[in-house]
Amino acid sequence: MTKPYVFITRKLPDTAIASLTKYAEVKMWPYEDVPVEREFLLSEAKKADAMITMLSDRVDREVMQAGTSLKVVANLAVGFDNIDIASATENGIAVCNTPDVLTDTTADLTFALLLAAARRVVEAAEFVKAGEWKSWSPLLLAGTDVHHKTIGIVGMGKIGQAVAKRAAGFDMNILYHNRSRNEQAEKELGAIYCTFAELLQKSDFVVCLTPLTSETRHLFNRSAFQMMKQSAIFVNAARGAVVDEEALYEALVNGDIAGAGLDVFTREPIDASHPLLKLKNVVALPHIGSASVETRLKMMELCCENVIAVLNGDTPKTLVNKEWMLKKRNV
Ligand code: GLV
Ligand code: GLV
Repeated sequence: MTKPYVFITRKLPDTAIASLTKYAEVKMWPYEDVPVEREFLLSEAKKADAMITMLSDRVDREVMQAGTSLKVVANLAVGFDNIDIASATENGIAVCNTPDVLTDTTADLTFALLLAAARRVVEAAEFVKAGEWKSWSPLLLAGTDVHHKTIGIVGMGKIGQAVAKRAAGFDMNILYHNRSRNEQAEKELGAIYCTFAELLQKSDFVVCLTPLTSETRHLFNRSAFQMMKQSAIFVNAARGAVVDEEALYEALVNGDIAGAGLDVFTREPIDASHPLLKLKNVVALPHIGSASVETRLKMMELCCENVIAVLNGDTPKTLVNKEWMLKKRNV
């Protein structure tokens, strides 16, 4: 029997995909730091039984339709806004993501970003390295406290709840907004459900962890920033397009809010000349929420496991499009 053919859109460590290489013929895009070219992706999709994709790849209807023998797309991310889910389901293709394994790692980074923005950690570190530290002084690089303040979490899924747990350790008051109530977070962490407007008005730290969908695109617009406290710090560890970046820039420059910690941007990589990056009160990171070595390796292994499950005719562990169960292609 010929082995199934799997295309991976980025070069991953051989050890991380060992289970897959035993099982299938695996081809990888040869570069670690360069995204796959569109034409290459389309031509590989035509041949592939399965693909492992990155959040930076646009896996749209054209890719799904090119993939006449494609049975599964495993995205190396918990988010899947880069994938046309409806088209995958129509074409009998399973879509998998990597939840759970990255929850604590992403919550750690989100909290690091919050702390960094509040206590001006990046600005202060740059100050020391630039030789600008001439004397200790009482209000030198003084920031704002985190402990005992109010955090407002928008998107109380698993990562939101893990951030709330960290916030509880800092004696913070925890507010949240979500499509549905999270009773566990309410019971175990004392999180309080709020409307979006109420959360914006009351929070010292507004933390965005909601997935990008047609409903959440530009959720954080001019009116949202104007509702926040002038002392508020906005943290985004979800997707850039949940924020209207022009409105965020204006809010920061006009003093409608005090600062921002951003791990994600509308266009990634963000251009170094982007106005947001010129602001002292912005901490910017290159989309590294889940980027610990341990977690990234676990995410890669989960992708391989999901691919093997589907190609074996089994249900994958972390399936996004549950409707696929009724439509799946014969393997
Ligand atoms: C990262 O942003 C992810 O969705 O896993
Ligand atoms: C969005 O608010 C969600 O339900 O995560």
